[in-house]
Amino acid sequence: MVQLTLPRNSQVTEGKVWEKPAGATNLREYRIYRWNPDDGRNPRVDTYFVDMDDCGPMVLDGLIYIKNKIDPTLTFRRSCREGICGSCAMNIDGTNTLACTKGAEEVAGDVVKIYPLPHMPVVKDLVPDLTRFYAQHRSIEPWLKTVSPAPEKEWRQSHEDRAKLDGLYECILCACCSTSCPSYWWNGDRYLGPAILLQAYRWLIDSRDEATGERLDNLEDPFRLYRCHTIMNCSQACPKGLNPAKAIAEIKKMMVERRV
Ligand code: SF4
Ligand code: SF4
Ligand code: FES
Repeated sequence: MVQLTLPRNSQVTEGKVWEKPAGATNLREYRIYRWNPDDGRNPRVDTYFVDMDDCGPMVLDGLIYIKNKIDPTLTFRRSCREGICGSCAMNIDGTNTLACTKGAEEVAGDVVKIYPLPHMPVVKDLVPDLTRFYAQHRSIEPWLKTVSPAPEKEWRQSHEDRAKLDGLYECILCACCSTSCPSYWWNGDRYLGPAILLQAYRWLIDSRDEATGERLDNLEDPFRLYRCHTIMNCSQACPKGLNPAKAIAEIKKMMVERRV
């Protein structure tokens, strides 16, 4: 039988149950993953009770309530609180999504369970380390590349060509899709994953860009592109309703078309 050795500190333990807010009658239970790299202890799941009569409706509101009123050490990322910055991505009730656009009411059952995005190193509590993810984004050179002399005023684009960017430009790089992709879990060091490939496609089909061949060359690799096995988890996970699996299929089609 195969013997697997789990890394030190991999076992998640029962954590602290925090006191209920005094006098509250409309309570919602939150169970939240906690891990502090500085205390040498295993990760744990702490239990908190949020007074829903004193808190906004979103899961992020619950986290802010906990941080402000119960436990200031709870660590998570957030910025825009309206689904634009992508920084509050986490695993809520078993699904990767944005805490600021997920209503606590949408979580079935009595308990809101929250973990960091899966299969990423954890910096602390709900904060994943996205260093590699951002380096992969840098690797596809996500900016307009041209060889023609720059126009006096602006690079023009027809309405039809502009429309080709719909469903792509809205990506907020939250990483919900990539961290729900089994191929990215196992080969994330070499496979670019759905978010970055969607971004790559966004530049490949931009009519103003003049580096299409070079961009395809950069993706022509058994791992960077071809580890996608069309499992479709990515498209189901995207909180912006985008379809990275389709973008990946379009890149594969471009690869074939340039060979014939
Ligand atoms: S379709 Fe491709 S990128 Fe999306 S989850 Fe599946 S393997 Fe990953
Ligand atoms: S495609 Fe969707 S899930 Fe993936 S990074 Fe972009 S916005 Fe997030
Ligand atoms: S806080 Fe910006 S997307 Fe949630």
